[in-house]
Amino acid sequence: MREKTYHSITFGCQMNVRDSQWLERVLTARGFSEAALEDAQVVVINTCSVREKPEQKVVSTLGRIRQATGGNPRVLVCVTGCVAQQLGETLFTKERQVRLVAGSDGIAAAPQAIERLLEEHDLHISLLDFTAHYVEREAAPAPDGRGGPVAYVNIMQGCDNFCAYCIVPFTRGRQKSRATAAILEECRTALQEGAREITLLGQNVNAFGRDKSGDGTSFASLLRQVAALPGLARLRYVTAHPKDMGPEDVAAFAELPQLCPRLHLPMQAGSDAVLARMRRRYDSTAFLRLVEELRKARPDLALSTDIIVGFPGESEQDFQETLRMVRACGFMSSFSFCYSDRPGARAALFPDKVPSQMAQDRLLRLQALQDALSAQWLNARVGTTTTLLMEGTSPRDRQGDAVSWQGRDPYGTPVHVPLCAGADHTGQLVRVCITQAKKHSLVGRQLEEP
Ligand code: 5AD
Ligand code: SF4
Repeated sequence: MREKTYHSITFGCQMNVRDSQWLERVLTARGFSEAALEDAQVVVINTCSVREKPEQKVVSTLGRIRQATGGNPRVLVCVTGCVAQQLGETLFTKERQVRLVAGSDGIAAAPQAIERLLEEHDLHISLLDFTAHYVEREAAPAPDGRGGPVAYVNIMQGCDNFCAYCIVPFTRGRQKSRATAAILEECRTALQEGAREITLLGQNVNAFGRDKSGDGTSFASLLRQVAALPGLARLRYVTAHPKDMGPEDVAAFAELPQLCPRLHLPMQAGSDAVLARMRRRYDSTAFLRLVEELRKARPDLALSTDIIVGFPGESEQDFQETLRMVRACGFMSSFSFCYSDRPGARAALFPDKVPSQMAQDRLLRLQALQDALSAQWLNARVGTTTTLLMEGTSPRDRQGDAVSWQGRDPYGTPVHVPLCAGADHTGQLVRVCITQAKKHSLVGRQLEEP
């Protein structure tokens, strides 16, 4: 074990990835450096409970840490995020090395807690309270003032929707919007540190501002203000909610050239009966109308989605409605899941659970349809020209004088392109012609400068 080192392990969504990056940067600013798991003094597991068997995953990770560190009691293990929020102090009894548990709001105080726990070896700290307002965290500058070309900025915490299957309102608490000035400040800093693209993060971004922490700024207005920041080339956001996407949010796709023509719009199901039981508060007609309006505002808009199959009571007929909607919307990609109970969420109490074999079979049929749609979408890109924001070299071989780089097009698809060796292309915008489609990515050729 080396003193003043950390190792972090992250599960889950973009918000968790951002939380981990924040904690890593703050620890770095306090003199810690990153280390392999075997060598680290502080190990952080940032957990997610939205998807399958979260508790088991955390327990098996704790076992892996114990093995890698030889069970050294001087190694401090911290569990943060959704599972920490749910399991709380029981985690102390599951593994001796765990001395900090911090939930979604508590993570803001984790850096101070970690420093204290390294001094006081018998102490345990739990940071599980929800705050009434969005808690501003201490600034986390990129090491050496240089961040990557893509930055993620939180605009809110929590969610008020209580969709029947979802644990988020319980693990992340009620919706709390962040102050617009603080969001803009963090965006400006990211741009100064080299970002060209910003993704705004929240569980339900379209409802930004509509809670008691809101400062009167609507989501559409926030988008306009961020888009106007000097140096910003691309703007994205996750996650949208169809019921909260108003006309102004739709119009932003027509008005703001920085806003990328890609939207992740979780549909969850195609059947009106299932959507109602899910408490999504839109039906298939409203969803299709929204898709139509969005495409009118931005004809090249690419949509992706989340879908749950096997929600309690879902019939074959209901599932066929989902397939129909997936075809009608022509999603470029989707994340799909078999429904599973989340203790505490309302649907856990619903009767008529779908047998897992049946749900699995539906998932495979849905994924086969999506694979065909994704292939169609990617193949249609071959021969088109586009602009990539370069992110780094791809894990591929050199090809003569060129190195294979990876960038993303405006739709967020990874594109591999050979670029001249000996130069750092990170953060550059490069014009390419798409030459080939792979299963989840594209290959391009750089176009000559005009
Ligand atoms: N079972 C299956 N999938 C779920 N999701 C959320 N909760 C559950 C659950 N209980 C999926 C939803 C959501 C995505 C992040 O995870 O599709 O949009
Ligand atoms: Fe969960 Fe629904 Fe909130 Fe999304 S909108 S985080 S699915 S409760």
